[in-house]
Amino acid sequence: MRAHHPDAGADALPLVPVASGDGAWLVGQDGRKYLDAVSSWWVNLHGHAEPRIAEAVARQARTLEQVILAGFSHPAAVELAERLLAIAPREAGRDPLAKVFYADNGSAGIEVALKMAFHWFRNRGDEPRRTKFVALHNGYHGETIGALSVGDIPLYRRVYAPLLVESIFAPTPDAYLARDGQSAQACAEEAADALAHLLDEHAGEICALVLEPLLQCAGGMRMHHPAYLRRVRELCDVHGIFLIADEIAVGFGRTGTMFACEQAGIQPDLLCLSKGLTGGFLPLAAVLATQAIYDGFVDASRERAFLHSHSYTGNPLACAAALASLGIFESDDILSRNQATAAKMATLAKTIGSHRHVADTRQTGMVVAFELTRDGDRGTPFDPAQRVGLRAYRAALERGVLLRPLGDVLYWMPPYCIDDAQLQLLADTTAAVIEDATACA
Ligand SMILES: Cc1ncc(COP(=O)(O)O)c(C=O)c1O
Repeated sequence: MRAHHPDAGADALPLVPVASGDGAWLVGQDGRKYLDAVSSWWVNLHGHAEPRIAEAVARQARTLEQVILAGFSHPAAVELAERLLAIAPREAGRDPLAKVFYADNGSAGIEVALKMAFHWFRNRGDEPRRTKFVALHNGYHGETIGALSVGDIPLYRRVYAPLLVESIFAPTPDAYLARDGQSAQACAEEAADALAHLLDEHAGEICALVLEPLLQCAGGMRMHHPAYLRRVRELCDVHGIFLIADEIAVGFGRTGTMFACEQAGIQPDLLCLSKGLTGGFLPLAAVLATQAIYDGFVDASRERAFLHSHSYTGNPLACAAALASLGIFESDDILSRNQATAAKMATLAKTIGSHRHVADTRQTGMVVAFELTRDGDRGTPFDPAQRVGLRAYRAALERGVLLRPLGDVLYWMPPYCIDDAQLQLLADTTAAVIEDATACA
């Protein structure tokens, strides 16, 4: 069975068997090298087979490979929790994120946050029950039933719709959808006004709102103004509902700051982390919560406890990888390095943006996206049957670059270790494949 993910379509092509990885390169079994421009589904941060993370995992494997994380604990899980809480987004005057719950992949992390929000209100005795979640149009939070229920991408959702929990979807603040002459901020404010109405309409029914701050990744690398997040924070407070920030794809430096929420100066009540958490080495998720949320579950009754566990929850190897990755952020001053890299990406993107089929070039930190359309304006998408994105993907592979699109959106989301020559290769390849893929469209 093939994996089916945000960028489905490329799976129709022959598989590329990979023998090894080295920095931003993947090396095929036939010796061909591919520049990993998408960080292998957005997980890799410091390069493939990064020696310091590899060594930390090997050391941990020789010491303790796995232990039940119920009634037992281990040093790497404790240290990682402390370090995550120390760097988590913080807002003056708000109780900080104070506790960490581990799971073992992004979707599981979302399930944890959703269940925790619902259960907290239930424990508080709210009647009638708050059972609904608010999510954004064009959002994506994973593939399990709960995560899919708060996702709004028809490709993944449609088939399973009868199984899903009913959610309330609010308009996206996506700046690409701004009307002619409307600023990204005005577009964000308009979406926040619509959200305010929705929350009024459903007052008392909702337990949490979940969103991808700054960047809807699977939805086509769509970006929004941080003003939206500030309004959402206020609205969640007014209505007494939890704000769940899904930083599974955008956390750990992707957007230019360690966490995307920082750019809006907000702190969520629940913060979901995964993907880059381990530097891309091993599956792990962490859900950070406030003390007040934690306290809502402290009780002798089993009914009131949060009974949610996965066998590999808080796996020591994954925690060791995560600690090593955080160490690299400090020792290599990754956030500063990324600023310089992001500036180079912006320069390289500019020329590509002037191509006649590029309707929009957008960037948030270490993510750049190019929206391809028939006439180079927003109103003329290519006919999906033309498979423009897929053609670009194939052409890029032939040139030694893994540039896997989302529909007709090409994007760069490379490992942070990408160097100047590799960036140039990426830009040259992107320009060439846009030409190739749109030539007969
Ligand atoms: C924002 C976001 N949330 C959740 C997930 C799900 O994570 P996983 O694939 O580890 O289940 C993804 C995966 O792409 C994601 O982009």
